[in-house]
Amino acid sequence: MKNRQVLLRHTVTGRPTPEDFTVSESVAPEAREGEVLVKTLYLSLDPYMGSAIKGRHMSGAVAPGGVMPGETIGRVVQSRHAKFREGDLVQTRAGWQEYAIAVAPDPHASGMAAAISRAAHPLAAAAHVPLSAYLGVLGMPGLTAYAGTLTCLEPKPGENIVTSAAAGAVGSALGQIARNMGARAIGLAGSEAKCAHVVQRFGFAACINYKKPGWQDALAAACPGGVHGYSDNSGGAVLEGVVNVLAPGGRIMLIGLMDQYNTSERLPGPALGPFIGKRARVTGFVVYDHYARLGEWRRLGATWMGEGRLAFHEERIDGLAKAPDAFSRLMAGETMGKLIVAVARE
Ligand SMILES: NC(=O)c1ccc[n+]([C@@H]2O[C@H](COP(=O)([O-])OP(=O)(O)OC[C@H]3O[C@@H](n4cnc5c(N)ncnc54)[C@H](OP(=O)(O)O)[C@@H]3O)[C@@H](O)[C@H]2O)c1
Repeated sequence: MKNRQVLLRHTVTGRPTPEDFTVSESVAPEAREGEVLVKTLYLSLDPYMGSAIKGRHMSGAVAPGGVMPGETIGRVVQSRHAKFREGDLVQTRAGWQEYAIAVAPDPHASGMAAAISRAAHPLAAAAHVPLSAYLGVLGMPGLTAYAGTLTCLEPKPGENIVTSAAAGAVGSALGQIARNMGARAIGLAGSEAKCAHVVQRFGFAACINYKKPGWQDALAAACPGGVHGYSDNSGGAVLEGVVNVLAPGGRIMLIGLMDQYNTSERLPGPALGPFIGKRARVTGFVVYDHYARLGEWRRLGATWMGEGRLAFHEERIDGLAKAPDAFSRLMAGETMGKLIVAVARE
């Protein structure tokens, strides 16, 4: 059996391009005692991979020549472990390849070690939820939105909860979760098309294009009483603009630095005065600390999806060979919603 893989060609310094990757073919491995061989159906492409190829992500670096990492959903095609049968649907971290070896979850592993392991987790998908959604809105990005909203933003009814990258996987889920908890969801996104999508598809109260002059005034007008909670995905000028319209006691969750993922230098940060003046609470957030809540989020999220209270949007790419180009677009901000590679037919 042939195993197509996408390898990192060399360590990347700037914004990734398709030339930074190479597609190679080898023979698929055989499962040994205690292992399973998983055929990938869907692969998730995520911004953290942009840090990993620069050797800067907490989950580890990708060495030149190494297989790109990534969350996947697949089927067991060969089992040498009593807990798995051929045909079982599993979630694992096979990376950018068609076949991978996985093992049973280590009951003693927790936190990041468990989240980034090569364990295969049986997946019981709800009938009304597409399989790929378990990599997006009901996967790692959705868990980021859910656990972050509950533990950092703590929205109260009527409060203004703002997220940047609102059309993306994390932001679109976060705004809907805050809205479903009674708050007003306000988005920030990088184009008029993204803003229209955020309001029409995800039901945010408003969405502001931060690339348009005067966006801070538009944000202030959309948030009477100020910003009570803000989830920041980018850092830089957008974070600076939002802290200037914080409500007293505002909560800020720092979850990502899109502005820095594509550069090798550090960008200047915002002035800290407004944090102090507003007695704001700023919290750093790492999803790996919250995997114990994944089952809770999947049950609630799937219920909301059934009730029409949680929408999601995927950009689906057919075939592993197109992953490098899709990933380059993700890191350039040119994608909308959760980026999924359909590697094989379900
Ligand atoms: N802390 C954690 O545990 C954790 C877990 C998951 C994800 N994250 C972070 O959450 C953020 C969103 O992740 P996601 O999966 O939902 O991705 P995504 O939003 O689907 O895609 C990234 C988006 O970032 C925005 N962006 C802002 N500044 C940018 C810049 N300088 N260059 C390129 N894009 C820029 C773009 O949207 P606009 O055009 O609308 O600006 C782009 O579409 C990322 O920063 C990610 O690393 C953190």
